[in-house]
Amino acid sequence: MDESSYKVKTIEWQGDEVVMIDQRVLPLHEEYVHHRTWQEVGDSIKTMVIRGAPAIGVAAAMGMALAAIQSPADSYEALRRDLDQAATGLFETRPTAYNLGWALEEQKKIYAQPAYPDHIRARLKERSREILDEDVAMCVAMGEHAAPLFPRGARILTHCNAGALATAGYGTALGVIRSVFKRDPSIHVFVDETRPFLQGARLTAWELKQEGIPCSLITDNMAGFFFRKGDIDAVVVGSDRIAANGDVANKIGTYTVSVLAKVHRVPFYVAAPTSTVDLDVPDGDAIPIEERDPEEVTHFGGSRCAPEGIGVCNPAFDVTPHENVTAIITEAGVHRQPYGESLAAAKRGS
Ligand code: MRU
Repeated sequence: MDESSYKVKTIEWQGDEVVMIDQRVLPLHEEYVHHRTWQEVGDSIKTMVIRGAPAIGVAAAMGMALAAIQSPADSYEALRRDLDQAATGLFETRPTAYNLGWALEEQKKIYAQPAYPDHIRARLKERSREILDEDVAMCVAMGEHAAPLFPRGARILTHCNAGALATAGYGTALGVIRSVFKRDPSIHVFVDETRPFLQGARLTAWELKQEGIPCSLITDNMAGFFFRKGDIDAVVVGSDRIAANGDVANKIGTYTVSVLAKVHRVPFYVAAPTSTVDLDVPDGDAIPIEERDPEEVTHFGGSRCAPEGIGVCNPAFDVTPHENVTAIITEAGVHRQPYGESLAAAKRGS
C-alpha cells in the first residue's frame, strides 16, 4: 500500500468543474458534489461537504480558479475586483483552519501584478493543482519522518479524521498511521468517534477499514479507560492551526486526550504541514475557534435527543498547549520543544 493505492479522490478538477466526495453522507453513501462557481465551493466548505484543514485549503485554491473562470472580466482591474470578492467570501467560510487563508494568499500572489486575464485564469487553476500535489507530498514526507517514532505493535489512538479525506490524499495523522502500518502490520488503532460530527466513526473508521488497518472504534469518553489499562502506546492527531509557540488547535476533544496522554506518560504527536503553522499568532489563545450549529449537539442522526429550548455550547475546536505535545511532525521533520525556532525555520523553508 502506498499513497497512490488510495482510490477515493477527496477533491479534483473534472474539466472546469471541481468535484468533491460528499463527506456528510459517508460511510453510508459515496456521492460526489460538482461545483462550477466559487460560491458553491464556499457553501461546501461551510456545510462540511469537504472538511479538514488541508482539504479546505485545496478547495479554496480551486474556488479562486473557478472565480476567475466564471468572471466575464476582460480587463485586469475588473478580474481583480471579482477575485478579491471571491477571496473575501471564501475566507469567511470557516475561521479556524489556517490552510484556508494560506491557500488564498498563494492565489493572491498570482494576480498581485497586472497580467492578461486569461493568463491569470490559467495560472490560478495550475497553482490549485500544484497545491493539491504538494499537499500529498507533504503528507507522505510526514509519514516517513514519524514512522520510526512508534514502537513495534504500537497501539495508537487518533481523534477526528486527519486522513486522506481531510487532505488532498494520504492524510496527516492518518498518513503517519499508514506509514507505520506499512512497516509494521501488527499495529492497532483506537479511533475516537469524535462527537458531535462523528468524523472518527464515519470517516477515519471508513478509511482504516478500506485498507485493512486493524482498529477499534470507541466513544470519546472511553479513552481514559484504555489509557488507564495501559492499552495506548501513542497518540497522533492532525491540526487546524499551530501557533508560533507550538500550541495546537484541533478538533474539540483533542485537549482532553492530550491531558490523558500526559498523565499516563504516553507520547502525544501532532502531524501537520507547514501550511498549518501560523507564525502571526503567538500562542493558542489568539486562534479563532469556530462555534457551530447547536443542532449538531441536540440531534443525533437527524433526530432530536435533547429537550427543546436547551442552551447549547458547540465549539468545534480546542487548543492543546505545547507543553502537552511530545513532538510536531511537519514535512520538514520532527520538531521538539521549544518549538518556536524550529517551526519558524521549517516555515521559512517551505
Ligand atoms: O471540523 P473539521 O472536520 O474540519 O475538523 C478537522 C480536524 O480537526 C482535523 O483534525 C484537522 O483539520 C487536521 S486534518 C489533516
